[in-house]
Amino acid sequence: MSDVLKFLQQRNSAPRLCAPGPDAAQVEGLLQAALRVPDHAWLQPWRFNVITGAGRDRLGQVFVDALLANDPLAAAAAQDKARAAPLRAPVLIVVSCLVQPHPKVPRDEQLLSAGCAAHSILLAAEAMGYAGVWRTGSYATDHTVKTALEHEPSQEIVAFLYLGSRDSEAKQLPLREVDNYVKYWNQ
Ligand SMILES: Cc1cc2nc3c(=O)[nH]c(=O)nc-3n(C[C@H](O)[C@H](O)[C@H](O)COP(=O)(O)O)c2cc1C
Repeated sequence: MSDVLKFLQQRNSAPRLCAPGPDAAQVEGLLQAALRVPDHAWLQPWRFNVITGAGRDRLGQVFVDALLANDPLAAAAAQDKARAAPLRAPVLIVVSCLVQPHPKVPRDEQLLSAGCAAHSILLAAEAMGYAGVWRTGSYATDHTVKTALEHEPSQEIVAFLYLGSRDSEAKQLPLREVDNYVKYWNQ
Protein backbone atom coordinates (compact mmCIF):
# COMPACT_ATOMS: atom_id res chain seq x y z
CA MET A 1 0.00 0.00 0.00
CA SER A 2 1.31 3.45 -0.77
CA ASP A 3 2.44 5.57 2.16
CA VAL A 4 0.03 8.33 1.15
CA LEU A 5 -2.95 5.97 1.15
CA LYS A 6 -2.02 4.59 4.53
CA PHE A 7 -1.57 8.13 5.84
CA LEU A 8 -5.06 9.10 4.65
CA GLN A 9 -6.61 5.97 6.11
CA GLN A 10 -5.12 6.70 9.51
CA ARG A 11 -5.76 10.43 9.83
CA ASN A 12 -7.03 11.37 13.23
CA SER A 13 -7.56 14.43 15.36
CA ALA A 14 -5.68 15.41 18.49
CA PRO A 15 -7.80 17.31 21.02
CA ARG A 16 -4.78 18.01 23.25
CA LEU A 17 -2.04 20.03 21.60
CA CYS A 18 1.16 21.69 22.76
CA ALA A 19 4.10 23.64 21.32
CA PRO A 20 5.73 23.63 18.92
CA GLY A 21 3.24 24.37 16.22
CA PRO A 22 3.96 25.05 12.58
CA ASP A 23 6.11 28.15 12.07
CA ALA A 24 5.25 30.96 9.66
CA ALA A 25 6.81 29.25 6.64
CA GLN A 26 5.07 26.00 7.47
CA VAL A 27 1.74 27.80 7.91
CA GLU A 28 2.19 29.17 4.42
CA GLY A 29 2.71 25.60 3.24
CA LEU A 30 -0.53 24.56 4.94
CA LEU A 31 -2.39 27.40 3.27
CA GLN A 32 -0.91 26.52 -0.13
CA ALA A 33 -2.41 23.05 0.33
CA ALA A 34 -5.75 24.66 1.20
CA LEU A 35 -5.64 26.71 -1.99
CA ARG A 36 -5.67 23.55 -4.10
CA VAL A 37 -9.03 22.17 -3.03
CA PRO A 38 -11.86 21.51 -5.49
CA ASP A 39 -13.63 24.79 -6.25
CA HIS A 40 -16.62 25.04 -8.59
CA ALA A 41 -16.13 27.91 -11.06
CA TRP A 42 -12.91 28.87 -9.32
CA LEU A 43 -14.72 31.24 -6.98
CA GLN A 44 -11.92 30.89 -4.43
CA PRO A 45 -14.32 31.48 -1.53
CA TRP A 46 -11.89 30.45 1.22
CA ARG A 47 -10.49 32.96 3.70
CA PHE A 48 -8.19 32.39 6.65
CA ASN A 49 -7.26 34.08 9.92
CA VAL A 50 -3.95 32.80 11.30
CA ILE A 51 -3.75 33.35 15.04
CA THR A 52 -0.56 32.72 16.98
CA GLY A 53 1.31 34.03 20.01
CA ALA A 54 -0.41 36.97 21.72
CA GLY A 55 -3.03 36.89 18.96
CA ARG A 56 -4.51 33.95 20.89
CA ASP A 57 -5.01 36.20 23.93
CA ARG A 58 -6.76 38.73 21.72
CA LEU A 59 -9.05 36.01 20.40
CA GLY A 60 -9.68 34.83 23.95
CA GLN A 61 -10.84 38.33 24.86
CA VAL A 62 -13.09 38.33 21.79
CA PHE A 63 -14.62 35.06 22.99
CA VAL A 64 -15.23 36.65 26.41
CA ASP A 65 -16.83 39.69 24.74
CA ALA A 66 -19.04 37.34 22.71
CA LEU A 67 -20.02 35.41 25.80
CA LEU A 68 -20.93 38.59 27.68
CA ALA A 69 -22.83 40.02 24.71
CA ASN A 70 -25.07 36.95 24.84
CA ASP A 71 -25.14 36.59 28.60
CA PRO A 72 -24.09 39.72 30.53
CA LEU A 73 -24.26 37.71 33.76
CA ALA A 74 -21.97 34.90 32.57
CA ALA A 75 -20.14 33.33 35.50
CA ALA A 76 -16.45 34.07 36.02
CA ALA A 77 -15.65 30.41 35.34
CA ALA A 78 -17.36 30.58 31.96
CA GLN A 79 -15.44 33.76 31.15
CA ASP A 80 -12.16 32.09 32.13
CA LYS A 81 -12.98 29.12 29.91
CA ALA A 82 -13.74 31.40 26.95
CA ARG A 83 -10.54 33.39 27.51
CA ALA A 84 -8.42 30.25 27.68
CA ALA A 85 -9.99 28.45 24.72
CA PRO A 86 -7.53 29.72 22.07
CA LEU A 87 -4.59 28.80 24.29
CA ARG A 88 -5.32 25.12 23.71
CA ALA A 89 -2.92 25.12 20.75
CA PRO A 90 0.02 27.22 19.57
CA VAL A 91 -1.52 27.92 16.17
CA LEU A 92 -5.14 28.52 15.23
CA ILE A 93 -6.43 28.91 11.72
CA VAL A 94 -9.97 30.17 11.30
CA VAL A 95 -11.27 28.90 7.97
CA SER A 96 -14.17 30.83 6.54
CA CYS A 97 -16.11 30.98 3.33
CA LEU A 98 -16.86 34.26 1.60
CA VAL A 99 -20.13 33.16 0.07
CA GLN A 100 -20.66 34.78 -3.31
CA PRO A 101 -23.80 34.95 -5.39
CA HIS A 102 -23.37 32.76 -8.46
CA PRO A 103 -25.93 31.34 -10.91
CA LYS A 104 -24.40 27.86 -10.88
CA VAL A 105 -22.59 27.57 -7.56
CA PRO A 106 -24.92 27.60 -4.59
CA ARG A 107 -23.85 28.50 -1.07
CA ASP A 108 -23.63 24.86 -0.04
CA GLU A 109 -21.02 24.11 -2.69
CA GLN A 110 -18.93 27.06 -1.60
CA LEU A 111 -19.12 25.91 2.02
CA LEU A 112 -18.11 22.41 0.96
CA SER A 113 -15.06 23.83 -0.77
CA ALA A 114 -14.14 25.72 2.41
CA GLY A 115 -14.61 22.49 4.36
CA CYS A 116 -12.20 20.81 1.97
CA ALA A 117 -9.74 23.62 2.66
CA ALA A 118 -10.01 22.96 6.39
CA HIS A 119 -9.46 19.26 5.86
CA SER A 120 -6.47 19.87 3.61
CA ILE A 121 -4.89 22.02 6.32
CA LEU A 122 -5.38 19.27 8.88
CA LEU A 123 -3.89 16.68 6.54
CA ALA A 124 -0.98 18.92 5.58
CA ALA A 125 -0.24 19.65 9.24
CA GLU A 126 -0.24 15.95 10.01
CA ALA A 127 2.02 15.34 7.01
CA MET A 128 4.48 17.85 8.54
CA GLY A 129 4.48 15.88 11.78
CA TYR A 130 2.02 18.10 13.64
CA ALA A 131 -1.52 17.35 14.73
CA GLY A 132 -4.76 19.24 14.93
CA VAL A 133 -8.44 19.30 15.60
CA TRP A 134 -11.37 20.96 13.86
CA ARG A 135 -13.72 22.81 16.17
CA THR A 136 -16.71 25.05 15.61
CA GLY A 137 -19.17 25.73 18.43
CA SER A 138 -21.28 28.83 19.00
CA TYR A 139 -18.40 31.25 18.36
CA ALA A 140 -18.35 30.16 14.71
CA THR A 141 -21.63 31.95 14.10
CA ASP A 142 -21.23 34.71 16.65
CA HIS A 143 -21.62 38.30 15.47
CA THR A 144 -19.07 39.66 17.97
CA VAL A 145 -16.47 37.14 16.80
CA LYS A 146 -17.11 37.75 13.13
CA THR A 147 -16.90 41.52 13.60
CA ALA A 148 -13.63 41.26 15.51
CA LEU A 149 -12.17 39.08 12.75
CA GLU A 150 -13.30 41.71 10.22
CA HIS A 151 -15.42 39.23 8.32
CA GLU A 152 -17.86 40.35 5.65
CA PRO A 153 -21.59 39.84 6.31
CA SER A 154 -21.62 36.96 3.80
CA GLN A 155 -18.52 35.32 5.27
CA GLU A 156 -19.20 32.14 7.26
CA ILE A 157 -16.77 30.44 9.60
CA VAL A 158 -16.50 26.72 8.86
CA ALA A 159 -13.66 25.80 11.21
CA PHE A 160 -11.48 26.87 14.07
CA LEU A 161 -8.47 24.65 13.41
CA TYR A 162 -6.28 24.09 16.45
CA LEU A 163 -2.79 23.00 15.40
CA GLY A 164 0.30 21.97 17.28
CA SER A 165 2.17 18.96 18.52
CA ARG A 166 0.34 15.94 19.84
CA ASP A 167 0.21 16.13 23.63
CA SER A 168 -0.84 12.54 24.19
CA GLU A 169 -0.81 9.17 22.50
CA ALA A 170 -2.89 8.96 19.35
CA LYS A 171 -6.19 7.31 20.18
CA GLN A 172 -7.14 3.86 18.98
CA LEU A 173 -8.72 4.24 15.56
CA PRO A 174 -12.21 2.76 15.22
CA LEU A 175 -12.58 -0.20 12.90
CA ARG A 176 -15.04 0.76 10.22
CA GLU A 177 -16.43 -1.57 7.58
CA VAL A 178 -16.78 0.12 4.21
CA ASP A 179 -19.83 -2.02 3.42
CA ASN A 180 -21.80 -0.37 6.23
CA TYR A 181 -21.65 2.95 4.40
CA VAL A 182 -21.89 2.10 0.71
CA LYS A 183 -24.27 0.69 -1.86
CA TYR A 184 -22.76 -0.53 -5.12
CA TRP A 185 -24.39 -0.40 -8.50
CA ASN A 186 -22.40 -2.58 -10.87
CA GLN A 187 -25.05 -3.93 -13.19
C1 LIG B 1 -17.61 20.76 10.93
C2 LIG B 1 -17.02 20.11 12.16
C3 LIG B 1 -17.13 20.76 13.37
C4 LIG B 1 -16.61 20.17 14.52
N1 LIG B 1 -16.71 20.84 15.72
C5 LIG B 1 -16.21 20.28 16.84
C6 LIG B 1 -16.24 20.99 18.07
O1 LIG B 1 -16.71 22.11 18.16
N2 LIG B 1 -15.75 20.36 19.17
C7 LIG B 1 -15.22 19.10 19.10
O2 LIG B 1 -14.79 18.57 20.13
N3 LIG B 1 -15.15 18.43 17.94
C8 LIG B 1 -15.62 18.98 16.81
N4 LIG B 1 -15.55 18.30 15.62
C9 LIG B 1 -15.04 16.90 15.61
C10 LIG B 1 -13.52 16.78 15.73
O3 LIG B 1 -12.87 17.68 14.85
C11 LIG B 1 -13.07 15.34 15.39
O4 LIG B 1 -13.34 15.03 14.06
C12 LIG B 1 -13.73 14.31 16.29
O5 LIG B 1 -13.30 14.54 17.62
C13 LIG B 1 -13.38 12.87 15.89
O6 LIG B 1 -12.02 12.65 15.92
P1 LIG B 1 -11.27 12.06 14.63
O7 LIG B 1 -11.26 13.17 13.61
O8 LIG B 1 -9.92 11.68 15.11
O9 LIG B 1 -12.06 10.87 14.18
C14 LIG B 1 -16.00 18.88 14.45
C15 LIG B 1 -15.87 18.27 13.21
C16 LIG B 1 -16.37 18.88 12.07
C17 LIG B 1 -16.22 18.19 10.73
